[in-house]
Amino acid sequence: MNARTLKIEAARVALEHVTDGMRLGIGTGSTAEEFVRLLAEKVAAGMTIIGVPTSERTAALCRELGVPLSTLDETPELDLTIDGADEIDPDLALVKGGGGALLREKIVASASASMIVIADETKMVDTLGRFPLPIEVNPFGLKSTELAITRLAEQLGLKGPLTLRMTQGEPFVTDGGHFILDASFGRIPDPRALSTGLHAVPGVVEHGLFLGLAKAAIVAGADGVKTVHA
Ligand code: 5RP
Repeated sequence: MNARTLKIEAARVALEHVTDGMRLGIGTGSTAEEFVRLLAEKVAAGMTIIGVPTSERTAALCRELGVPLSTLDETPELDLTIDGADEIDPDLALVKGGGGALLREKIVASASASMIVIADETKMVDTLGRFPLPIEVNPFGLKSTELAITRLAEQLGLKGPLTLRMTQGEPFVTDGGHFILDASFGRIPDPRALSTGLHAVPGVVEHGLFLGLAKAAIVAGADGVKTVHA
């Protein structure tokens, strides 16, 4: 099975958790997009849901496929969010933000009664940190923020470069107008300590560690689809 087929399989199982009338947070990335395509088929067949997208990219796909949308201002409490992830550990701690949507993804997931992660099995890790940790930062004072993050990492015994995410020769700008620093720290043995420390750095808007948010992960692999509970 190729990677796309696995993503579709995970998305298909996640769709079984979506019921009529739900207020649904809709994630960002290639796996979430497979979910949107399947969801759109259900909507076309009469399912009534209202979706809150986690990025402009997801919003555009939903509009194109006829998935009805709302905003968190209109619909501040959601029943369920379905989203992808860059890494998933055995406790369902996640690294997210590879697609640059981590801030809205975290706000939407936090506004949801439940979050289900969908992924192919390559995303499962024993310890977070193989994938560089995306950190969304305010462009103002970028160098000072970088320095503060590097000092924090050293205090926590983490080491590795911070790389400003670029696209077409320019800094990548998030939907919120911020930059992203990708932190290649390697293994992150204490994600909670890093999360707390990053939140204390003024220039950090948000980071891609999603701790205690996912209630289940639906993971597709060569041997089938399994659901892991937190
Ligand atoms: C976007 C994300 C994505 O969920 C994550 O990058 C996974 O993407 P994909 O499904 O394409 O592997 O966090 O900010």
